[in-house]
Amino acid sequence: MPVPSQIPRHIAIIMDGNGRWAKERGLPRRAGHRAGADAVGHVVDACQELKVGYLTLYAFSSENWKRPAGEVKSLMKLLERFLKEKTSEMDERGVRLQAIGRLKDLPESCQQQLHEAVERTRSNTGLTLILALSYGGREEIIDGIKSVIHHVREGHLDVGMLDPDVFAKHLYTRYYPDPDLLIRTSGEMRVSNFLLWQISYAEMYITKTLWPDFRKEELLAAVTDYAARSRRFGGI
Ligand code: IPE
Ligand code: IPE
Ligand code: MG
Repeated sequence: MPVPSQIPRHIAIIMDGNGRWAKERGLPRRAGHRAGADAVGHVVDACQELKVGYLTLYAFSSENWKRPAGEVKSLMKLLERFLKEKTSEMDERGVRLQAIGRLKDLPESCQQQLHEAVERTRSNTGLTLILALSYGGREEIIDGIKSVIHHVREGHLDVGMLDPDVFAKHLYTRYYPDPDLLIRTSGEMRVSNFLLWQISYAEMYITKTLWPDFRKEELLAAVTDYAARSRRFGGI
């Protein structure tokens, strides 16, 4: 794989289009989600080869709870199976697995699998893979505000000291750098409540490819595109 001149330290992906992928094939939506879960492995591999530090995957949004109960259930089962089957392999490859979102909303069995996977891979030094689960950017900001208020009341934080860097320490993502590159598959031109605070200066790459068809080559194309951009951060 030819290595682009600039590698994003953190890539965030809105993995969209599983349902349409299944529909095109006359399959049930859950078959699309299953194929989508398989695509994750390819992207993790590619990120490791490129030495990307952090990969955040939007796997289930706060709004996705609105979907029919059967679909939600199959997504939760798939998550559990993914963790059960892939944790050893990820661990062997040095991947550190993390999760962000209102994780307490997830079924107990999912929380348990997630906890085990996070603990097992905690000291790995390769790619940090962050799963966004029951995640909403607005919810995260609200939780951050609650945390700030708590710290102020306890006398640990002076309101006058609050600035973007301090506030970022109260978000789920406090341990990670902001994403440099945001990818969305399936051609939708929106952010759907994903990392609202953190993407303020992320470069965006939108592709019509449906998530289950997303492979290394496409990740490389996105990173190559990113490498050719001029990031000014408001400067000249
Ligand atoms: C993304 O695929 C997976 C989740 C949001 C969980 P979709 O299920 O949104 O697929 P489309 O958008 O209906 O094609
Ligand atoms: C965004 O996809 C959420 C995830 C990829 C987990 P959606 O399919 O839920 O987004 P909308 O509804 O098209 O905005
Ligand atoms: Mg969708």
